[in-house]
Amino acid sequence: MSGTIKISIGRKDSFIGNAVHYQDYEIQTGRDMTVLEALQEIYLTCDPTLAFRHYRCGRRLCRSCEVKLDGKIVRGCATLLHRGRTYRIEAARPEAVIRDLVFDFDASNSQLAPE
Ligand code: FES
Repeated sequence: MSGTIKISIGRKDSFIGNAVHYQDYEIQTGRDMTVLEALQEIYLTCDPTLAFRHYRCGRRLCRSCEVKLDGKIVRGCATLLHRGRTYRIEAARPEAVIRDLVFDFDASNSQLAPE
């Protein structure tokens, strides 16, 4: 059975220096998806300007996929989004954002803590 996942994504470009603004997306899907699958679907089907880190390990080990999902930092490769729900996704470290969901690991390393 097909359904819709609605996602509002915080976007920012630190090189331009603009403030965070939120852009809304809808994904039609026949199954629940991980955060990273949803971001890739958005990137491939409707918005190739969206910046995010794609898989490294894909197994909850490297933390390169971290994002803030509804205010909580999660690993995108291992966190499911469910059909029929609406989510907000933002950069995991807003103080170190380079662009959209990509942040500078070096600038935020001192704040990283095990999940
Ligand atoms: S891709 Fe490595 S923890 Fe998610």
